[in-house]
Amino acid sequence: MSRIAIIGGSGFSSLAGAPAPAGPALATPYGPTSAPIATGNLAGREILFLPRHGVGHCIPPHQVNYRANLWALQQAGAEFVVALAAVGGIGAAFGPGILAVPDQLVDYTYGREQTYSDGSGEAVVHIDFTRPYCAHLRRALLAAGRAAGLDPVDGGTYAATQGPRLETAAEVVRLERDGCDLVGMTGMPEAALARELGLCYACGAFVVNWAAGKADGEILMAEIEANLVQCADAVGLWLATFAEIFDPDAKAPLG
Ligand code: HPA
Repeated sequence: MSRIAIIGGSGFSSLAGAPAPAGPALATPYGPTSAPIATGNLAGREILFLPRHGVGHCIPPHQVNYRANLWALQQAGAEFVVALAAVGGIGAAFGPGILAVPDQLVDYTYGREQTYSDGSGEAVVHIDFTRPYCAHLRRALLAAGRAAGLDPVDGGTYAATQGPRLETAAEVVRLERDGCDLVGMTGMPEAALARELGLCYACGAFVVNWAAGKADGEILMAEIEANLVQCADAVGLWLATFAEIFDPDAKAPLG
């Protein structure tokens, strides 16, 4: 049974080694998933893959059915979920092209279905969320990145904003004051829902632009697109190395 799942974000609507997801989304008790789940083989390991924004990238961040996606991945056998995320860089160490494995997050989203504990008759569940990402999977992503010569940044605080618009310069000043290093639109409620389900979840972030106000002028979508393409090879290598070295059955944490 597949135990590792990858959720693809912007720039990653399919995975090398997996057929591109096609056909109808999956029905779940929470509504439809973003897309069907593809099963592929990466470096000899079976991997589940789900494009967060759907086939053809039609679902904006605030309309992604995060509950359905994570529930369906778990039903398909996933225990480990690597969430890819194209992000803007806030901190000086997080310029375009940088890969990072954040260790904290701040949630600025609103109006999203953010819990399975929705008062529909089951006892309310309060999860511990002190450390929002799975330490075991974070270590594995970092080890894979280093083994691939990619040197991802270990840590950083991810600001989850509502989107789909990018931020104002003043909003980014506020995020920075709050201690955020990276900004993206999909990190929440995904991480919290994964924790509610008991999934081991971590984020593989790649920076595709300086956040608003961090570079001269406006943010050009063409520049984001170009950086997405530039990051694609590195992220592909990162995932392939991860699949090669990460043994989902190993109990000992990777060094
Ligand atoms: N802000 C929010 N989300 C993003 C950005 C950004 O600057 N870049 C890529 N995703």
